[in-house]
Amino acid sequence: MSYLEVTWTDDETGINGYVVIDRLSRGLSGGGLRMRKGVTIDEVRDLARGMSLKEPVVYTPGDKYIPLGGAKAGIDCDPYDPRSREVLGRFARAIKPLIDTCFATGEDFGVRQDTIDEVFAAEGIPSSAGVGYRVVEDGPQAGIDRQTAAFAVDVEGVGLGELVGGYGVATTALAAMKYRGLEPATTRAVVQGFGSMGGSTARYLAKAGVKVVGIADRDGLIYNADGLDVETLLLTRDAYGVIDRTKLRENDEQRDGADWLALDAEVLIPAAMSYVITDENVDRIQATIIAEAANVATLKDAEASLYARGVTVVPDFVANVGTNAWWWWVVFGDIEPTEAASFAKLSDVLGPLTTQVLERAAADGVQPREAATRISDEKRAIADSMYPRTIKADPYAD
Ligand SMILES: NC(=O)c1ccc[n+]([C@@H]2O[C@H](COP(=O)([O-])OP(=O)(O)OC[C@H]3O[C@@H](n4cnc5c(N)ncnc54)[C@H](O)[C@@H]3O)[C@@H](O)[C@H]2O)c1
Repeated sequence: MSYLEVTWTDDETGINGYVVIDRLSRGLSGGGLRMRKGVTIDEVRDLARGMSLKEPVVYTPGDKYIPLGGAKAGIDCDPYDPRSREVLGRFARAIKPLIDTCFATGEDFGVRQDTIDEVFAAEGIPSSAGVGYRVVEDGPQAGIDRQTAAFAVDVEGVGLGELVGGYGVATTALAAMKYRGLEPATTRAVVQGFGSMGGSTARYLAKAGVKVVGIADRDGLIYNADGLDVETLLLTRDAYGVIDRTKLRENDEQRDGADWLALDAEVLIPAAMSYVITDENVDRIQATIIAEAANVATLKDAEASLYARGVTVVPDFVANVGTNAWWWWVVFGDIEPTEAASFAKLSDVLGPLTTQVLERAAADGVQPREAATRISDEKRAIADSMYPRTIKADPYAD
């Protein structure tokens, strides 16, 4: 059962928004805010539960960042809807009491962090993740300064904050490939979604030598058996991660978006919506490895059938933990707000974690998700025993 579930209805448009706090740790919780037409409280609840597993799974004793409880927010609105920004503003106003006291949030599907920052600031909320700063050892301002510095870093035309999530997904996919005996040079990957997560995952898989043969976005699938030019495609995206088709190369084929998961490739990266791998389409999958950049990408029965067929699924709360973990590592001062320190910490933590999950799954005879859940629960217990006894009443006071 969730700790708190809130349903909000916008009095001007009738659009619904939701916040689910799955659990609190030290009185705090964290999780992203998504904007998608059709989002429901059930989806937000699933995502909040996932956050409770994601928060502790990277915890290493000695880290300054100690895991929060899991939470999530969602607004049932198309990000392309011209009213989406004002709806986000009214939602921020409505949930401000939670943001001020116990819920740290940030970008997710359909919403960019800079939009959240601008809209929340206009509602008198200096940071969407402000409550997390109340437990930063050297004070909230030091955490805010580190976060601002980190988000100002640009890596080859893309902001570091937009890259770390996909860098983490690519790291876990590469570790799973190694575990399964696949070499990058002879491995092909397909990515569904080309926004923050999909775009950066494709970039770092390609940089590692993997051939990215398919990319799907909201407008369909682009396929090239010889490999797509990921760097060029990244620069043609609009603000919602949609590729400009006029910039495709001659031999890039356009196909139906639903075919992404049936392509002949060893690695699949779902990096768009939730619930995309289902009982109905699971038999079409040819891949050996699925690394879930998207939260709750695979339905339970479909995952069981993949497991039975020997397909390795790196579960969402391991594959995509990079953004959340990086944010807190920076804010708490576990790493410097630089490209080098960020990528080094992500590699050092997520590669070995993926191997540990897959080895534990084999040793315990369970699916990787269950093995990762056991590891997360064990780490949560260690972190729980280390909480400071007091918290600061005002998250913005030094
Ligand atoms: N951004 C993060 O920090 C973060 C962290 C962890 C997990 N995630 C998860 O990753 C997923 C993607 O998030 P994001 O932030 O990259 O989103 P985003 O909004 O930046 O990008 C979404 C991408 O999905 C594409 N898309 C939309 N509808 C589609 C459709 N019907 N078929 C194929 N593609 C479609 C869009 O064109 C875009 O390329 C979500 O499930 C989110 O929960 C995001």
